[in-house]
Amino acid sequence: MINALAERRVLLGVTAGIAAYKAADLVRRLREAGADVRVVMTPGATGFVGPLTFQALSGHPVRVELLDADAEAGMAHIDIARWADIVVVAPATADFLARLAHGQADDLLSTVCLATAAPLVLAPAMNQQMWRAAATQANCALLAGRGVDRLGPDEGRQSCGDNGPGRLVEPPAILAALERRFVSGALAGRSVLVTAGPTREPIDPVRYVSNHSSGRMGYAVARAAAEAGARVTLVSGPTALDTPAAVTRIDVATAEEMASAVRARLAGADIFIGTAAVADYRPAHVAAHKIKKDAATLTLALERTTDILAEAARREPPLFAVGFAAETGDLERYARAKLIDKHLDLVAANLVGTPGIGFNTEDNELVVFWADGQRRLTRAPKDRIARELVALIADRYAQTRAAATSADAPAAQEARA
Ligand code: C5P
Repeated sequence: MINALAERRVLLGVTAGIAAYKAADLVRRLREAGADVRVVMTPGATGFVGPLTFQALSGHPVRVELLDADAEAGMAHIDIARWADIVVVAPATADFLARLAHGQADDLLSTVCLATAAPLVLAPAMNQQMWRAAATQANCALLAGRGVDRLGPDEGRQSCGDNGPGRLVEPPAILAALERRFVSGALAGRSVLVTAGPTREPIDPVRYVSNHSSGRMGYAVARAAAEAGARVTLVSGPTALDTPAAVTRIDVATAEEMASAVRARLAGADIFIGTAAVADYRPAHVAAHKIKKDAATLTLALERTTDILAEAARREPPLFAVGFAAETGDLERYARAKLIDKHLDLVAANLVGTPGIGFNTEDNELVVFWADGQRRLTRAPKDRIARELVALIADRYAQTRAAATSADAPAAQEARA
């Protein structure tokens, strides 16, 4: 089994509790498991353990101050928030839970927690009476309702001499819980093939026809699928993006290269997600030499490229095929037509005319259609939308498989009879 935490980007937040010393052990264990760890401390936490300890163990400078001119010039708070695959706060004090529950952003760690689209895991540690306090319990309930995960606290003898709930969950148990998150996701054991980015169709040796796709949505989908436990292969046109953790990336340039890279990997795939903005047409003839600008006008003859998604959706035995539709109007009609024409299981559609949404932007908003339903994923950063989309894909995929199994059941019984 590959190590579930290998190359995962873990942001560890440390707040001001006596259990902060145990966070040092957690960093060591995370590094041993192959994770890339960065530490952010609250100012109070530095009174318990010095930042140098965490710097030495993580191999990276520790950030404490929100308004730190030097650090903001380097890895600014928004960059850290985007960098993380997962944010873990251990120990999380009662005060930190309260600030988080109320959306405060009055230090670096609470700001990063607000600004991240990554899953948030909290390991509380405090005096048992503080843990039992109605305010702490209400804050925890509020956070749980927002999808924040909590580990512990454990019960037992406390450093203040009390006995009861409030001890930090031991680092090996935190590590195991984080590993489980990555291997028991909704797509654990599934193989997912994703296309992303634009394609480039050459006109001559120095020019090409392409489009404005940045690839961000596709990369976010690949990353979310990997987080959900899938083995992910990303066939990517030219982009300026880093390969997401635990994703195998194959670089291509033209639609034909993308089509053959996909064909070569279709056999083992359970799910195909076509996010690439594949050129629909390519120059019918590629000039062997740079075309000179002698003529006043130049006409390019274009021919159709392969529809990679439609081809993938026809594979036998069928796989679960997901397409994207970028439309400028009449979203539902065009999306549903695509669902039928290309034999898709799901279409994620967006209006590309809307300012701030779609190509080359940070945010996206999708309406997802399937044969007998639809769901709107409201405007959010592409990472968050990608996670919601992957959760929906996993859900629909499971239902389709369950339906196929029960449809097979009578035939199988007949065959046995
Ligand atoms: O037909 P249209 O281009 O609008 O469909 C968009 C969907 O089809 C996207 O999922 C895109 O990745 C996929 N597509 C493809 N190959 C093409 C054209 C589109 O895979 N040649």
